[in-house]
Amino acid sequence: MTRKFYIETHGCQMNVHDSEKAASVLQGLGYEPSTEPSAADLVVLNTCMVREKAARKVYSRINEIKRRTPDAAHQKRDRLFAVMGCVAQAEAARIFDKCSDVRLVLGTQSIGSFPSLLEQVDQGFPRAIDVRLSKHADFLDISPAERTRPHVAFITITEGCNKFCSFCIVPFTRGRERSRSPQTIVDEARGLCQAGYREVHLLGQNVNSYGLSGNYGARGEAGQRGDEITFAELLARVATESGIERIKYTTSYPRDFTRDIVKVMDEHPNLCEWVHLPAQSGSDRILRAMRRGYSRKDYNERIDWIKSAKKDISITGDIIVGFPGETEDDFNETLSLVAEVGYDSLYIFKYSPRPRTPAASYTDSVPEEKKTERFLKLDELQSRIQLERYARLVGRDVEVLVEGLSIRSDNDHMGHTRCNKVINFPKCDSKMGDIIRVKVEEARPHSLYGRVV
Ligand code: 5AD
Ligand code: SF4
Repeated sequence: MTRKFYIETHGCQMNVHDSEKAASVLQGLGYEPSTEPSAADLVVLNTCMVREKAARKVYSRINEIKRRTPDAAHQKRDRLFAVMGCVAQAEAARIFDKCSDVRLVLGTQSIGSFPSLLEQVDQGFPRAIDVRLSKHADFLDISPAERTRPHVAFITITEGCNKFCSFCIVPFTRGRERSRSPQTIVDEARGLCQAGYREVHLLGQNVNSYGLSGNYGARGEAGQRGDEITFAELLARVATESGIERIKYTTSYPRDFTRDIVKVMDEHPNLCEWVHLPAQSGSDRILRAMRRGYSRKDYNERIDWIKSAKKDISITGDIIVGFPGETEDDFNETLSLVAEVGYDSLYIFKYSPRPRTPAASYTDSVPEEKKTERFLKLDELQSRIQLERYARLVGRDVEVLVEGLSIRSDNDHMGHTRCNKVINFPKCDSKMGDIIRVKVEEARPHSLYGRVV
């Protein structure tokens, strides 16, 4: 009987894409995908470590899956639990101690080790683990069949991070920054276009530093040291050479965000009007403690470049509240920054200390209630701003990629605008994957509503 796998993904886009890669590897081994953990012989949890809450979830999820699955359904067959992603990287073999059901642990650069690890277990080893990190880790290829959104594809352009922001665990879980060669990226985008994809997202922890680390990671790739190009140049190449109609990218980093990125966005119609540029805080004092390497003034300068573009570019961001030592004054600076920028959407996080990071040893912590109070206050401000930002689109025609049924109503379809907002509209003749024009009629808190024109 064919063996089945189930993958559950927590965390960021990078993880979503890693799950696609894992699915691709497992299908290559003859496994079939399953949407039900109870029907699977191999249950894979792809985990996130960025915040404490997300990390704790792994163990509770495994127990939950076990509890929900009728014993008889899986006891005959030997069901395997595998943990991959950032928690796997950070906790490594400790996962086996914390949860005896887990038999496979794969770090962030070890998705390609699935075959050998599964073989070890097949041969009777109770556990198998690979959490090696290398400066030259290969970038895995993926077959289109495993992509989770039928008309939108993710393309990794950089992996890892060299920034070491004082709160962040990513440099420890995803290793040093590596860039994929420009030719491989362009080829992948072109292949996706030929396979019918309409939109690609170029992914990396810090896409703007593309090529800067001088470290083209994958062995045997076309590009080698010496032919590094900047992120702006990469964008231009993908825009002109791939044929893809909509190109988005995430995540940007203020210190490495250059003016020519905006210029290139203006020059190429297929570069979409969206920049995700996390500020993390509006206070210079806190930005220094976070080791972000830019001031509020520097950040605002980048926002001004984006706002003065010919295109009407949406700006989204991330903010951490309650970083150690954050005073009421610091927090007020964050409120004023958020009001000044006018984000189209904002991810707000309560600070949580992460193992091995410098900030974890900072003492003057903000009490939990204070963090919650600040979170709510900022969230309320952002909700007001967001509604205004969305309302300004009412009456306008926007370009929408039709992606599926609306979550709320079977009578509606949903898609994303070029500026990455969700928009719902009554079902029409258009097919999934069509790019259509929709007139915005209503602004809702997290989405738009419109009618096809
Ligand atoms: N505590 C809270 N939020 C964090 N982030 C990263 N590390 C932490 C942490 N220790 C947030 C940042 C980052 C986003 C992906 O997660 O805002 O941009
Ligand atoms: Fe983490 Fe900073 Fe790197 Fe972003 S830039 S992944 S916040 S260390």
